[in-house]
Amino acid sequence: FLAWGAAASARHKDGVVGSELPVKNGMQKALIRRVPVRTIFGSHPEDGISAIAISQDAKYLATISAGTRVCVWKWTSPTEKPVCSTELRPEFGYQDYVIFNPQNPYEFVSNSKTQVIFYLWDKHMASPLSLQTFNSMVGHFSQSVFHFNNSQALTGTSAGKLVVWDVVGPRTPSKELRAKPHSMKATKLVPVQKDSLTVLKVFESCIVTGDVKGQVKFYDGQLQLLTCYSHSSVGPIQSISFSKTPPDPPGASLAYFSLRSDSSNSVSLTLNRNFILSTSDATVLHVATDRTNFEKVMEEAKKAVNAISCHPRQALVAVGSHCGLLKVWDYQQTKYLVSRIFTQAGIQCLSYDPEGYFLAAGFTDGSVYILDAISLQSSCKEFKFSRGPVTHISFSHNSEYLATADEKYSVTVYKRVLQNGSRCWEHLAGLHSHYKPIRSILFGVQLDSNEPRLLSLGEDRQLVEYDLNSSSKDCLVILRRDRVEQIAVPLCVAWYPQLSTESFILTANNCYKMKLYNTTTKMCR
Ligand SMILES: *[C@@H]1O[C@H](CO)[C@@H](O)[C@H](O)[C@H]1NC(C)=O
Ligand SMILES: *[C@@H]1O[C@H](CO)[C@@H](O)[C@H](O)[C@H]1NC(C)=O
Ligand SMILES: *[C@@H]1O[C@H](CO)[C@@H](O)[C@H](O)[C@H]1NC(C)=O
Ligand SMILES: *[C@@H]1O[C@H](CO)[C@@H](O)[C@H](O)[C@H]1NC(C)=O
Repeated sequence: FLAWGAAASARHKDGVVGSELPVKNGMQKALIRRVPVRTIFGSHPEDGISAIAISQDAKYLATISAGTRVCVWKWTSPTEKPVCSTELRPEFGYQDYVIFNPQNPYEFVSNSKTQVIFYLWDKHMASPLSLQTFNSMVGHFSQSVFHFNNSQALTGTSAGKLVVWDVVGPRTPSKELRAKPHSMKATKLVPVQKDSLTVLKVFESCIVTGDVKGQVKFYDGQLQLLTCYSHSSVGPIQSISFSKTPPDPPGASLAYFSLRSDSSNSVSLTLNRNFILSTSDATVLHVATDRTNFEKVMEEAKKAVNAISCHPRQALVAVGSHCGLLKVWDYQQTKYLVSRIFTQAGIQCLSYDPEGYFLAAGFTDGSVYILDAISLQSSCKEFKFSRGPVTHISFSHNSEYLATADEKYSVTVYKRVLQNGSRCWEHLAGLHSHYKPIRSILFGVQLDSNEPRLLSLGEDRQLVEYDLNSSSKDCLVILRRDRVEQIAVPLCVAWYPQLSTESFILTANNCYKMKLYNTTTKMCR
């Protein structure tokens, strides 16, 4: 449990803690809450942890911070100090992968893109054993493993090669001798494929590779290919995790490989374990090896998340990414509910309408979608009126209007209509109302009438109020324009809470100042 928790939080800046991991349980996705059994605070306070590994006997942790400081921890002992540590010279590169020798907890290996370092440690000292630098023909190192039944170690490279390391001098297979210092040297370079190797693992008596094309290949101890699992739509593999038990009823097959012949009578090796892959395009897949079936377990945003909007009445949050993925989560149950992928452009902004029936989304290509809040299906045809990427989107308090701002300094307003008995919005008018980036659009309510009012604020220091009632098709009327700053640049605007009879607009500027403006006269208080 600690291994899972610690490995999952290896990117945390400070300390080694337990964590939540989503796991696949049969066909059901469940979230198991892991309880930290031990937390080492401030293990590498300044630099964070770049790599972590746990020994086979589960007694020791190896951590590397900032790619250069290597520590070994006996995690069950109450001390906050490592059992041993060493500082690597900067020319060893940024060490970002580490793994213990499963046969010897006192031996581990780490690698950077260009250097592989072997370590032997006792209570006092970890000694980096050897390192080798290769030319570019080898490619960059990705991950290393110890061979399962000999003294070799292997490192995968971006040129599709496996570097084989072995003990220099006579082989010393006995345990006592293996604990003594020895030197590892690259003895062979095996070109296994053209595509870049991203993951290297040992599973039972196989060497397993994962690559940039999403292929998983199994080799025997002599690096003879046994079998390969691939699917055209799988991205670069980031990690592979094998199921502990065979998928068949217990006793059906004890071997982890079996021979199968298909209809064309060709015989192939089949792995008797299912496994889970994660890819660098933020997807997790389950591979059922009996059917070579790749099933998507979850898919997350591949690019930056720019847009987020909370449902006004339920515990829902909509999250939009630049990759076009829109996901709605129940944030109380931490449950993903529904998603939609937009392929034509990235999502820049999102807003629920005040009743929570609709979700409006603004895109990098200037389009605006109004979606059903539950199904995420389009409620009306998408709009293409913005002149540049849509940066802001907002509904008026009564949902009568929807307004957007875009990167081309324009504000566009849509008005609600009834279309064949169902509610929708249609384009009213747009205006190039600023000459520098728009920082905010703000709907409010008229003091005397409960009608909506609309303002926009730009880096051009203009606070523009629109006259929605007088605006008509293709004519957005400006009610007034006020310069709110002389030297500073205003960055955002909000309604100040009605705490007295007077009502105010609140702005904040790039000189760390907030200002109150009378909502009618726009005079600074
Ligand atoms: C390693 O395993 C292979 C196949 O399982 C076997 O043929 C070989 O003898 C083993 N080598 C050692 C050193 O155990
Ligand atoms: C209204 O419904 C009719 C028939 O269902 C359809 O032909 C028409 O296109 C619809 N109009 C709009 C504006 O959706
Ligand atoms: C909106 O305009 C109509 C006439 O065009 C007018 O009768 C109405 O009073 C106006 N409403 C507001 C809130 O100004
Ligand atoms: C704005 O200021 C004027 C003059 O001080 C005041 O009479 C008015 O009530 C203020 N307006 C609001 C909306 O607070």
